[in-house]
This record gives sequence, C-alpha cells and structure tokens, in this order.
Amino acid sequence: MSVTATRAGARRPLPFDLQSYLESRTLFINKGLDRFLPKETVKPATIHKAMRYSLFAGGKRMRPALTLAAATACGGTEEAAMPLACAVECIHTYSLIHDDLPAMDNDDFRRGKPTNHKVFGEGIAVLAGDALLTQSFEIAAQAKGWPRYSHQDLILELTKASGSLQLIAGQVADLEAEGRKVSAADLKYIHERKTSALLCCSVRLGGMSANCTAAQLKALTDFGYNVGLAFQIIDDILDITQTSEQLGKTAGKDTKAQKATYPSIVGMEKSRKLAKELTERAFASLKIFKGRAQALEALAHFLLVRDK
Ligand code: IPE
Ligand code: IPE
Ligand code: MG
Ligand code: MG
Ligand code: MG
Repeated sequence: MSVTATRAGARRPLPFDLQSYLESRTLFINKGLDRFLPKETVKPATIHKAMRYSLFAGGKRMRPALTLAAATACGGTEEAAMPLACAVECIHTYSLIHDDLPAMDNDDFRRGKPTNHKVFGEGIAVLAGDALLTQSFEIAAQAKGWPRYSHQDLILELTKASGSLQLIAGQVADLEAEGRKVSAADLKYIHERKTSALLCCSVRLGGMSANCTAAQLKALTDFGYNVGLAFQIIDDILDITQTSEQLGKTAGKDTKAQKATYPSIVGMEKSRKLAKELTERAFASLKIFKGRAQALEALAHFLLVRDK
C-alpha cells in the first residue's frame, strides 16, 4: 500500500512523505522507549524481559507518532513531547497484553508474535501489563512542565484516558457486550472509550508539550476523538477483511467471539462510510494549524486506508 498521503475523497496529493516520516519517528520512539525502560538484565529479569517483549514486538507506533505530530503542529519540539509519546505507548502496550489474556479476548498472536502470556505465562503477563502502566506515569513525570500545563495536568490527562471512566470502561462494556444484542449508541460508547480516549489523549499531550493555546487544544481534542473512533471502526473492518499474517494478530476473532463491532451492527458499507466521515471531520479540525499539521493530516489519512 502506498502511504503517500492524499486527502480522503480529494484528488490533490499532499507533498508529505509519510513512509519516511513513520520510519524515522519509529526509530526515534524506540530509542526513547529503550532509554526509559529498565534493561532486560535488571532484576527481576523476567518482568523486564516480558515488558520489553511486547513493547518491542513491532507495533505501528501510531499513538506516539500522533503525540509528536501534534507537538509539531503547535510549534513545539519532538524532544519535549518524547516522554509523553513513550508514556502513551506503554499504556497502549499494557492494554494489549491484558486484552489478549484468556480471561479477556484469549488471543495467541499479537504484533506478529505469540502473545505475552503464551511466552511468559498468565501471571507474568498480568504483571508485565501492570508494570507498563505504572512505568508510563514514571516516564510522563519526566516531561517538562510548561507555563500553561503543570505536571498535574499531564498526569491527570493520562489517568483519565486510561481509567475506569474511559479505556477500562470501554473494555468492561466490550466484555459485557459479547454475545448480546447491542444498540448503535452502546457500540459508540464502547469504541469511544476503549480506543478513541487514548488516541485523543495522545494528541492532546503532544499539544500540551508545546504549551498549546486553549483553541489549539480544542482542535486537537476534536481531531483525536474523530480519528480515534475511526481507528476502532477500521480495526473492526480489518478483523473481517484481512488475514492473520497481514494483521500480525488472529483475524476473524470478533465474529467468533460475538463481539460488538461496527460491521456486525451497522454493516460493512455503513462502517466504511462512517470511518471516512469521521476522518473528514478530523481533517476539518486541523485548519487552525495553518499548514503546520501536515503530519497529523497524513497520519489520519493513513489510519483510514491502512491494511493492518
Ligand atoms: C490495536 O491497536 C488495538 C486497538 C485499539 C484497536 P494498534 O492497531 O495500534 O496496534 P499496534 O500498536 O500496531 O500493535
Ligand atoms: C482493543 O480492542 C482495545 C484495547 C486494547 C484497549 P480490540 O480487542 O478490538 O483490539 P485487537 O483487535 O485485539 O487488537
Ligand atoms: Mg478486546
Ligand atoms: Mg482483542
Ligand atoms: Mg479488534
């Protein structure tokens, strides 16, 4: 798939090389994560091996890339945003380790490798998730405070997005919806919380690292919410249309587990249309950045047309 960005539905190609952007930012983010995480040999080695196993298994790094891109859009630096980008990726990876546990989605493959509990056992996988979640706050606390945003604001941002009113709320509702008839409103509740909340937090933290204005933060919030909701709709679609090899995780699991997904509730065609509309809404909220949001725009487009 070409990752040269074109505006969804428009013909004009954007002069932005997303492929090299993603390659270079992935290297930069991986270096940051390596620096912040205890080395594999640090006692107790098992937990640090397990944390690093999932963290460096080859994720797309979309959330930290969004944090860096949001910082740049607001005139900040990637260096200042880096601790927050790494913190968000640690929370995301913890959520995947726990999501894959037999007690949850019971998945054997993730990021192209056996899941954490398959390699280290369930006890260590639970602890590796717990440790990554805790580590994320330690990393975020190393970010600099800015005039408009204190450390308290940054930590609250992360805790709110990952707590029992957002990410966890979505995961709870996702589990409780299995095998049940779910309304479109309930489905939106699940997706907003289990996925959109952390994506939204990723871009907001990028903006905060750049001391963004209230108007910029509002624009990033709208952007992140819409991109985040589209992201989970696309994830639901890919579970049906792609192979396990392509995804690096077991395809076709949602139907088997009778999960509440967009294709199962509103149908495939309407799901695609919704994802596109949400992405267009996300583009519209970038106007305020006057040409400095090229990376955010390209990332939003990529997330819509991605094939894994
Ligand atoms: C998968 O997220 C979990 C969802 C919230 C849908 P990603 O598709 O970003 O997973 P990685 O980080 O690339 O492995
Ligand atoms: C996962 O949603 C959301 C979180 C981990 C918070 P899914 O269960 O759809 O993610 P995949 O498909 O396993 O990656
Ligand atoms: Mg799940
Ligand atoms: Mg899952
Ligand atoms: Mg899924």
